[in-house]
Amino acid sequence: MSKNIRVLLPEEEIAQRIAQMGQQITEDYKGESVFLVCTLRGSCFFACDLAKRIDLPLTLDFVKASSYGSGTASSGKVKFDLDVELSMEGRHVIIVDDIVDSGHTLQALLSLFKDRGAKSVRVATLLDKPDRREVDVAVDYVGFAVPNLFVIGYGLDFDQKYRNLPYIGVLESD
Ligand code: IMP
Ligand code: MG
Repeated sequence: MSKNIRVLLPEEEIAQRIAQMGQQITEDYKGESVFLVCTLRGSCFFACDLAKRIDLPLTLDFVKASSYGSGTASSGKVKFDLDVELSMEGRHVIIVDDIVDSGHTLQALLSLFKDRGAKSVRVATLLDKPDRREVDVAVDYVGFAVPNLFVIGYGLDFDQKYRNLPYIGVLESD
């Protein structure tokens, strides 16, 4: 299975970067508590590892949303399959995402959570593909910027496979 996968970000590099991100969040929210919202499915590995690196009172909840449509600019519609259960009113919410691509999903989540009375809403993403952005969304914490390639592993899938790879790779067709 692994012979067609090129490693882009090895496991150790991901772990180091997540530790730095956790440290940064811990400093930025000193004296406060944070509410992490993990966007399923792709972000579950990242959210768990990041949460362990944040030294603050922390709540964790989950949302499942996906963007669909033609994929051309401004056509992205967002579908919600699972909503957050806990109240975010007055809370410092951090949306934890696997990869920000067009930005449609994130934009929808940001406006929804702000409407629900969160005290603040920020975004932490493991990967960012800035070249693919179709909407202007602010991403506060970025693990790695990646080129416009389809990446897999560490939660990211191709056709629901490869999420369990401990590294981020690129699927190469032979
Ligand atoms: P968007 O920003 O609304 O376009 O959606 C981003 C979502 O698309 C991510 O959460 C992933 O589920 C998926 N996605 C985008 N790029 C990739 C990739 O390179 N590999 C795997 N999934 C991706
Ligand atoms: Mg996602």
